[in-house]
Amino acid sequence: MSILSSTIGQSDSKKAAARVVAFLADHASEGTVSEVFSDLNMPYTLVRRGGVNEAIDYLGENESPKTLIVDVADSEMPLSEVNNLAEACEPGVTVIIIGNQNDIGLFRDLIQLGVSDYLAKPITGELIKRSLTSAENGGASSPVARQRSGKLIAVTGARGGVGATTVVSNLGWLLANEVHRRVAMVDLDTQFGSLSLAFDQKPSKGLREALENHHRVDTLFVERAMTSIDQRLFLLGGEESLQEPVSFDTRSVDTLVEILEKQFHYVMVDVPRMPGPVHRHVLQTADIRVVVAEPSVASVRDTIRLLGLMGKDEVGRRTIVILNRRTQASNADISVQEFEKAIGRKVDHVIPFGKGSVNAAGNSGEVVASRRGPVTDSLTDLAFELSGRSNAKVKRFSNIPFAGVVIDFAERARGALGQTSLRNQTANDDSKSTDEAKRA
Ligand SMILES: Nc1ncnc2c1ncn2[C@@H]1O[C@H](COP(=O)(O)OP(=O)(O)OP(=O)(O)O)[C@@H](O)[C@H]1O
Ligand SMILES: [Mg+2]
Repeated sequence: MSILSSTIGQSDSKKAAARVVAFLADHASEGTVSEVFSDLNMPYTLVRRGGVNEAIDYLGENESPKTLIVDVADSEMPLSEVNNLAEACEPGVTVIIIGNQNDIGLFRDLIQLGVSDYLAKPITGELIKRSLTSAENGGASSPVARQRSGKLIAVTGARGGVGATTVVSNLGWLLANEVHRRVAMVDLDTQFGSLSLAFDQKPSKGLREALENHHRVDTLFVERAMTSIDQRLFLLGGEESLQEPVSFDTRSVDTLVEILEKQFHYVMVDVPRMPGPVHRHVLQTADIRVVVAEPSVASVRDTIRLLGLMGKDEVGRRTIVILNRRTQASNADISVQEFEKAIGRKVDHVIPFGKGSVNAAGNSGEVVASRRGPVTDSLTDLAFELSGRSNAKVKRFSNIPFAGVVIDFAERARGALGQTSLRNQTANDDSKSTDEAKRA
């Protein structure tokens, strides 16, 4: 077991983590699978009644098993449910699906999702054994099956100081702590980067070496270089001397990301605002590209330029524009509507102004997302949206996300039209929220 996964095992539970876990919809299948486990003398197995939803809940709370058997007989839409399951699975987990339909089309589609095998009911001990043996040998039963790997999220600021690192650190923390995903954060600004500072951590010694000598980098090297923030959150961030440049190329970043993607659901890269080939490459190849902007003219201009550089969205590659209110609203601000009109597309997300909360958290080496408040609500929505999961379970601080911001922008328009202020009608402005957060 790798260092990274054993860390998780120790923190998550005192008892040994289950190696093979099965969620089955009926008594007969439960019996067959339990018998196979016992015949094969397999240690650390678990058989439970359930299907995809129970498996997803299990993955959220326990260390991922090596092999997961899930019954989709009760699923109305097995493909989309298995897709959700695949998102919840750590990269590298082998998934065997059991279902009612003996349908070659379904089999092929499931294999495309990264499922190792599909068995139609009634299942026999022999079928399960064959499928398990194939999974244990690391081989999928079909040559088209592919190993799932994590997603690369590249975050950059349209301007300096607009909140890119704030987004990386908080989204990383929320994906790890609220969405229960394994997240690796990498700060590509090896000299001025502030990601380590955001978590009050010492800079990672190995980052520079990993980037400058990519042929020497392997899983063990990366594991040693990483700083563990908590059981699911890891960090690589440097603070190299300013005396000499740190030079690395796209191959180095690709190697590092490839290694990380095998072990983490998300690899989040804080991409500095430098018009170099490496940074351009990361932005162009990431699965999710995030541009953080502020409501200013300069930010509009540079958002347009960055969107042009990154190119159009395509299947499996999307760009997200975040408008971050890192300062108190002022009359000089550009409204969301004006911003959208100027950049020629929707703003995907607005982060409200965190008054003292964001800075206070940063100064004490904590992320603001670890405390309740409007900024946390907003970023939590984004984290769940990125992961494709619903955040219905998360206790909300306010029922109207971004209300403070929307009202701030809307306020001027209403004032110009001689309409009543919305501010007095809402209980969601940041000062009230901050007081409530302190009491909570
Ligand atoms: N929504 C917000 N509300 C209040 N303060 C914020 C908000 N977002 C960011 N800040 C503050 O703005 C400052 C700059 O943020 P951050 O370091 O994340 O920006 P950056 O884009 O990474 O900067 P750089 O270009 O230096 O890398 C920090 O002090 C941070 O606490
Ligand atoms: Mg930064």
